Amino acid sequence: MLNELVKQSRSYRSFRAGAVIPREVLIDLVKLAQSCPAAMNLQPLKYRLVTDEDELDGMLKITRWATSLSQKLPPEGHGPTGYIVICHDTTITPLKPLFAIDVGIAAQTMMLGACERGFGGCIIGSAKEEDITSLLGLPEHLTPMLILGLGVPEETVVLTEAKDGAVKYYRDESNVHYVPKRPLEELIL
Ligand SMILES: Cc1cc2nc3c(=O)[nH]c(=O)nc-3n(C[C@H](O)[C@H](O)[C@H](O)COP(=O)(O)O)c2cc1C
Repeated sequence: MLNELVKQSRSYRSFRAGAVIPREVLIDLVKLAQSCPAAMNLQPLKYRLVTDEDELDGMLKITRWATSLSQKLPPEGHGPTGYIVICHDTTITPLKPLFAIDVGIAAQTMMLGACERGFGGCIIGSAKEEDITSLLGLPEHLTPMLILGLGVPEETVVLTEAKDGAVKYYRDESNVHYVPKRPLEELIL
């Protein structure tokens, strides 16, 4: 059920060592993105898959994970085993805020697809464009927009209800990650 899938598809920042997300699964996720809505149906998004060991190491170095927590995430040896870097192809249409909405739709659709297939991960916006471009050798017309770090999740994430607007996520002594979500009464106007 979609309800369960959306709840289960959390942001995971620790992955089972050696549990590789196959390239074929990453391709399947791009197939999902292929069918997503797109502003003016222009479809300027392109997807760079990362499965090579050196590139995986590089991606871990240039991405920033849960910087508001004091611990290092992902823990040593528990990084993603695959990434999808969503890029905007400026030969199709210039960058405009409207196309960032396409990026979000594609990202969440692929995250749900990963979850349904027994994988998971985290959407990562914190990475310098020039670092991604140089690491992956992206040509000038491809602007990296958003990263999905993926693998087999190895941590517990619990949704809680935000009280008094406190939405900062936190962890307990057992490393359970809690994510406060605003109550429905605050969302519906
Ligand atoms: C556009 C976007 C960018 C994000 N960038 C990062 C990031 O750079 N690093 C990170 O650790 N998490 C990142 N996240 C994950 C959020 O922190 C996460 O969605 C939020 O804490 C709520 O947790 P949940 O996804 O389990 O509901 C990003 C999420 C989105 C939607």
